[in-house]
Amino acid sequence: MSAASKNFDAYWMPFTANRDFKKKPRVINSASGHYYTADDGSKLYDTFSGLWTSGLGHCHPKIVEAVQEQVAKLDYCMTFQVTNDKAVALAERVVNMAPDGMTQCFFTNSGSESVDTALKIALGYHRARGEGNRTRLIGRERGYHGVNFGGMSVGGMVPNRKVFSANLIPGVDHVRHTHDIEHNAFTRGQPEWGAHLADDLERLCALHDGSNIAAVIVEPVAGSSGILPPPVGYLERLRDICDKHGILLIFDEVITAFGRLAQPFGAQRFGVTPDIITTAKGLTNGVIPMGAVLVRDSIYDAFMQGPENMIELFHGYTYSGHPVAAAAGLATMDVYDEEGTFEQAASLEQHFEDLLHSFADHGHIIDVRNYGLMGAIEMAPRDGAPGARGGEAHKKCFWDENLVIRNGMDTLQFSPFLNSNPDEMQKSFETVRRVLDTIE
Ligand SMILES: Cc1ncc(COP(=O)(O)O)c(C=O)c1O
Repeated sequence: MSAASKNFDAYWMPFTANRDFKKKPRVINSASGHYYTADDGSKLYDTFSGLWTSGLGHCHPKIVEAVQEQVAKLDYCMTFQVTNDKAVALAERVVNMAPDGMTQCFFTNSGSESVDTALKIALGYHRARGEGNRTRLIGRERGYHGVNFGGMSVGGMVPNRKVFSANLIPGVDHVRHTHDIEHNAFTRGQPEWGAHLADDLERLCALHDGSNIAAVIVEPVAGSSGILPPPVGYLERLRDICDKHGILLIFDEVITAFGRLAQPFGAQRFGVTPDIITTAKGLTNGVIPMGAVLVRDSIYDAFMQGPENMIELFHGYTYSGHPVAAAAGLATMDVYDEEGTFEQAASLEQHFEDLLHSFADHGHIIDVRNYGLMGAIEMAPRDGAPGARGGEAHKKCFWDENLVIRNGMDTLQFSPFLNSNPDEMQKSFETVRRVLDTIE
């Protein structure tokens, strides 16, 4: 049955122009490796690794097998006061890859839940240490931390916040984002300009007194707002200011963990260790929803007080540490190791960067940026119609070229597979160029 003959009435699609999509729908039915198959039988190359999720490609046989085996063996087991072997094993596996000192792993089901969990852990930590006055949370403009109330509040994506403006959690401020085309346009990798923007945190410490601030959350490389790599020295400066004022630093690594920056974590790539790391996506290669929050031992230790028979943190989800998700996570970690995925990702970076920056002199392009296997091509908005060029490029790629790309307004974003074939990657950018040639 083709998409046109399906009834979409009951289906409210997330982050989608529903009416527009449903006028001319096309549905993906299956996938293998680097390609999707649509219901009309055509194959589409995926330039976005799912939604930053599927770095190993789709339906990796080892992960599929692990999930099939697990679901037949233990389909569910609560993890409140009981647990399962796969959750325990995955926690150990993930902390063994983490920066030194991050010895604790708390499971969630998504990036949004990881972020809200991290914020709650930060607040609980200060309270447990007798600094319950540290309640303020700091995010960054153009940050994306998911769509739950905590993450939305510390996030800095205006359309996501606008409707809920009066209901965002109180006591949140934002530092400035680091992107400035005047200084940073067409930078390959980290821009030289902008480390001083971290001093915005000092301004907020002066305003509120640093002793009232619980945590600062940033993505090491902002992803969904258009790939904004941190200026050289910026993350180090944030770390220093947090240390000076006793503020916890949270890296939201929902995108950057598990190889997107050719390391297990962005923290390792940048040589800056936060206090808490949030993850999801690449934890299971997107196969089963799952997130994890990694925490320094000193934070966990602060909670471990009072009577030993009492729950220390009143937080958790029915599906935290779900055995099937954890089995998918363990198989994913096996594949990363066995196939040398992070090394593969590293070997693709230069090729990816060169392909992206070959667009620098193309009409309408006002910026190209990249870091690791994250990249963006930004077009100038059409007069009076911001987002139109990006939307058209997306649709033409999808419908005319069988290529899945992602656009945020007029910025095309790319998140290639960590094990991409360099020729396929090149062909996908040739297709993008052909499409951009037609955009007025
Ligand atoms: C950095 C970051 N944090 C949080 C999230 C939210 O994750 P989810 O959509 O799984 O809730 C995302 C999603 O893209 C993200 O990129």
